[in-house]
Amino acid sequence: MPPDTPFKTIIEPFRIKTVEPIRFTTRAQREQALADAGHNLFLVKAEDVLIDLLTDSGTGAMSSAQWSGMMQGDESYAGARSFYRLEKSVRDITGFKHVIPTHQGRAAERILFSSMVNKGDTVPNNTHFDTTRAHVEHRGAVALDLPVPEGRQPRLVLPFKGNMDVAALERTLTERKGRVPLVMVTVTNNSGGGQPVSLENLRAVRATCKRHGVPLFLDACRFAENAWFIHQREPGQAGRSPREIALDMFSLADGCTMSAKKDGMANIGGFLAVNDEALAARAKNELILTEGFPTYGGLAGYDLEAIAVGLHEALEPDYLRYRIRSIEYLGGVLDAAGVPHMKPTGGHALYLDASEFLPHIPPAEFPAWTLSLALYLEGGVRSVEIGSVMFGRQPDGSEKPAAMELVRLAFPRRVYTQSHVDYLGEVILRVHGMRERIRGLRMTEAPEVLRHFTARFEPAHGSLLA
Ligand SMILES: Cc1ncc(COP(=O)(O)O)c(C=O)c1O
Repeated sequence: MPPDTPFKTIIEPFRIKTVEPIRFTTRAQREQALADAGHNLFLVKAEDVLIDLLTDSGTGAMSSAQWSGMMQGDESYAGARSFYRLEKSVRDITGFKHVIPTHQGRAAERILFSSMVNKGDTVPNNTHFDTTRAHVEHRGAVALDLPVPEGRQPRLVLPFKGNMDVAALERTLTERKGRVPLVMVTVTNNSGGGQPVSLENLRAVRATCKRHGVPLFLDACRFAENAWFIHQREPGQAGRSPREIALDMFSLADGCTMSAKKDGMANIGGFLAVNDEALAARAKNELILTEGFPTYGGLAGYDLEAIAVGLHEALEPDYLRYRIRSIEYLGGVLDAAGVPHMKPTGGHALYLDASEFLPHIPPAEFPAWTLSLALYLEGGVRSVEIGSVMFGRQPDGSEKPAAMELVRLAFPRRVYTQSHVDYLGEVILRVHGMRERIRGLRMTEAPEVLRHFTARFEPAHGSLLA
């Protein structure tokens, strides 16, 4: 509940000035859309989707302050006023000295790793996001995930399941002495269910890195959501603002990569921010090769303005309270009906546990993918599978079931209201009610890599529903 109010309803902390209609379709139309798309939601047209929870990245609504900032965008090639606005915002929020804009998060990763990581190195992270892993591996290095073991148990309710395993980090830094150029911590831990990392854990990671003389970087995409969880859950932090907590988080690191498409509240953009002068100089040289001059980094001046404003808005307590609560609220609706999902609900998404939801569908018939199709067919809701389609194919071409069969419902920022969430709850409950009739899939064609984007499927038993 917001402080200073006797009311318990947490309302959207905004009113709507511009609206974008969403299109209702019939079940028959959705059935056709699925058939046309080879039963792959990535291949369904966005206008055939009613509630789009495919990702929270770049899909948010901007504020009137961001739009008015954009009108003041300075499009000068070098030394644009908009860059200095962004630089000030990032410095105010993170405390880092050097700010290097990029077109999105993965460009910041590429530049950081090109500047620091060599063949044969190891980069530990609580859990690498897939582009982060790909960039580390592209350098010929090992991307090592070191989450706390509790982070891999979907049903366990703990406040900081995104934490890094500090003992495992200590072992890695000892065993791989001289071959670990940096340690990363992802806040919140996206691939680990959007779970937060505590300040206490960050401090312990920092101390371990310091003892071994290894720099620490944050993958800061969802830094504001992480700060809110710390404010809510970490002993002694309730009286501190998300802004103060975020500054503490950043003060424990030597730099960060950022996708401004998340807690930058923008539709595109990112940055790399670092303290080390020599590293900043190397990174800027890399930047010029692929992204552009260091005062625009592949972005328009108006994008820089949108991020400069958005970073501050992401730290507003009223906004964060509404955002985190929307997802928790859906979790409550599902709990009341016994629908299995990962707990506690994360900062940007709710993850349905398809292995338990559809226990009669074997991994070879892709239960999580099937569940995501059922949500679309019944209610026009688009989600994303994180299961055996995404991770099942092994480098030697064989198939191995993924560790978990999850359906991620990622919430775009400031886009949907409580009635959308109520509707979503109804759709999930309806699909849960018909779960025994849902049948699995067969993959009919797939590319060698990143197959989830373009693979095609057909029902393995004639139709999706018995
Ligand atoms: C934790 C994390 N790191 C990095 C990225 C990459 O950011 P971008 O999509 O802007 O390249 C993402 C995007 O989803 C992410 O969630």
